[in-house]
Amino acid sequence: MTAGVPDRGHARARPDGATLSVVGGARPGTGVASRVSPGAEGRGRVAVVTGGSSGLGLDLVRALAQRGLRVVLATQSLDRGRAALDGLGDLADRVAARQLDVTDPGSVAQLAAWVDRRLGRCDVLVNNAAVLLDDERSSLDADLAVVQQTLAVNLLGTWRLVQALGPLMRRNHYGRIVNLSSGLGSLSAMGPGLPAYRVSQTAINALTRILAADFAADGVLVNACCPGPPEVGVVGGPEVVEYTLQADTAVWLATLPDNGPTGGFFRDGQAIAW
Ligand SMILES: NC(=O)c1ccc[n+]([C@@H]2O[C@H](COP(=O)([O-])OP(=O)(O)OC[C@H]3O[C@@H](n4cnc5c(N)ncnc54)[C@H](OP(=O)(O)O)[C@@H]3O)[C@@H](O)[C@H]2O)c1
Repeated sequence: MTAGVPDRGHARARPDGATLSVVGGARPGTGVASRVSPGAEGRGRVAVVTGGSSGLGLDLVRALAQRGLRVVLATQSLDRGRAALDGLGDLADRVAARQLDVTDPGSVAQLAAWVDRRLGRCDVLVNNAAVLLDDERSSLDADLAVVQQTLAVNLLGTWRLVQALGPLMRRNHYGRIVNLSSGLGSLSAMGPGLPAYRVSQTAINALTRILAADFAADGVLVNACCPGPPEVGVVGGPEVVEYTLQADTAVWLATLPDNGPTGGFFRDGQAIAW
């Protein structure tokens, strides 16, 4: 992994977002939760995916629903959530869209209370929500307000979701937590560029190790993954790293058997260096 460059900008709008939308509060009269029904393979398990209205997040929602899980598509915008549901076809019967701002403790608490009250459990948490706000400045000139904002979403948002939903997992002695991270946070390949984002991803990796230890006796497996193989030089030279985003590794980690790994960092189904 080399430096100085975006992993495909989180700050930019995704071209594939147009057909996706959000679901949010219960649809009056019907109730979003009533549309959520258990499937066979997922045995009625419940997954929460943050940042689920587009891109990789929506891919993860779709993949988990296809495996029979009931999925809560958490998104900042209920309009985008509703649009995303419309694009899921029959799978939408297993998906409920809910509003979530991971930086807002009240919003996170509200989501967790809704999941507990309406679905009665939480088996899987995929922390996919993230921002990449860095500009071209180096760490020496970085705007610390940007660093703070980045950590608020990427690190503290992830942490807050685990604090809110982890107890539901502990209650059933079952849980799978998948923290989306990036090779740009790998200490073994650390370099310049994107300092706020890099630090946030390294911090997510550290949190993953700590959480795995804290949940060790609870049947809750906690892992981090970089969602796609790096493609060096795609955008203009050897200093540029992009990723081909793929849901496979995150879905695998979200559906691990009880004897699966915990406290690991994976890409393409393989453990990678921290
Ligand atoms: N893109 C890459 O090349 C790459 C490479 C390595 C790792 N990753 C990681 O993979 C994950 C997905 O990447 P991506 O490129 O698909 O990201 P993205 O397009 O920027 O999507 C991230 C989503 O996070 C949600 N989000 C942002 N701020 C939020 C907040 N305050 N509260 C709740 N949700 C918030 C937004 O979804 P809503 O609008 O639905 O709220 C946003 O669409 C991220 O964790 C990223 O770090 C990405």
